[in-house]
Amino acid sequence: MAGTRDVSGWRSRFPELGVEPLSIEPIVSGDLFELERERIFKRVWLKAGRVEELPEPGCFKVKRVDVAGTSVILIRGKDGTIRAFHNVCPHRGNRVIPETDNETFGKARADYLTCRFHGWVFDSTGAVRNVPSLEKFPPWFDQCDYGLKPVSCDVWEGFVFINLDPEPRQGLIDYLDGMASHFAGYPYHEGTAHYRYTAEFNCNWKVALNAFTEAYHVETIHANTLPWYAKIDHEDLKFFGPHRTSTLYMRLVEGAKVAEPAPIDGLALRIMQNSPRQRFVMDKLPADINPDRRGNFLFELPTFFPNFMIHVYSGGGGDPGMLYFTHQFWPLAVDKTLWETTRYWRTAANASEYFAIAYANAIHRNAHLEDTATMEDTFAGLQSGVLEHMPLMDDEVMLRHQDQVWHEYMGLEKNRT
Ligand code: FES
Ligand SMILES: [Fe+2]
Repeated sequence: MAGTRDVSGWRSRFPELGVEPLSIEPIVSGDLFELERERIFKRVWLKAGRVEELPEPGCFKVKRVDVAGTSVILIRGKDGTIRAFHNVCPHRGNRVIPETDNETFGKARADYLTCRFHGWVFDSTGAVRNVPSLEKFPPWFDQCDYGLKPVSCDVWEGFVFINLDPEPRQGLIDYLDGMASHFAGYPYHEGTAHYRYTAEFNCNWKVALNAFTEAYHVETIHANTLPWYAKIDHEDLKFFGPHRTSTLYMRLVEGAKVAEPAPIDGLALRIMQNSPRQRFVMDKLPADINPDRRGNFLFELPTFFPNFMIHVYSGGGGDPGMLYFTHQFWPLAVDKTLWETTRYWRTAANASEYFAIAYANAIHRNAHLEDTATMEDTFAGLQSGVLEHMPLMDDEVMLRHQDQVWHEYMGLEKNRT
């Protein structure tokens, strides 16, 4: 009965987040989406890659950032530094590196990138190294003024971030706030075997993000793939500036009958648990994640504002050995989202490990197919105009924080319906 419930849990810990329902307007409004491009995605630090993707000087990655209307080249220079540039030739605007997909990889020959239109050559610092027929340009033309347009770029724990603001308001570490130390020190660099899935959904990016931002759905959405999860405890909630993180612990209901894993699950599990280099070691967790080293740690559930998640993982969801997995939700339009998820393991040392990783990867994908199955339906429901707001329960508190931060960045008054 409304008004009679106990105000407890996160509500009482974080009263500033309120208990009111959230407005649907930020999710369905095309005008607000256009504003999001300017006020959020062209201003904040966005994860764009991992250092392992650029192992040697000359290696590059082109990342399309449709929400900001650009495409960015990340390239490792001879000095080992990773720099970022708009993938736009300063001569007449051609893509310096043709894109083959949302992400395009390659290696520059001798550290040089050549625009295929008229052959201008750039080095990995963005400087123009050669302009064919230079003598035919007018006297005022100085090739030094026509290097690739730089994009701010910095690396934290091997994650490469970019900021499309010509003058970022904060450096990356300042922006990451307490997340920088909370997640520091985990062996992300050992995740040399990675598997990436992408999909486009007909939904707003916040619908997709929100679906991964609470554990309320676990017992229903994941009832088939994770039958031994009796309960998920959503704990250790922390807010760091615009970011948030929490920890999921797995708890079996008292007296619950735990079924033996199916033979093939058991095989994958044993292979990884018997491998000293693959099995989960609690002490490798950053000190502030599961600080009491509780045995039922499942994974860390954060959002690096606005659209990135790093799930430091125990592999306890039936996919042993996985070091961590990430999600990123890239807006393409108010009603279209590119979802990218990547799972990271240590490279298999033998055929058994290779099998276990491939098998666990498929199991994990199945759980994510469940997660993603509601997104388009949810968005269609919100778009129908039938509802004006969403009531949230206590464990959906991270959605409240996202909504509050979103309003702050957008410079909009929170609409407390
Ligand atoms: S547009 Fe690149 S060289 Fe002309
Ligand atoms: Fe889920």
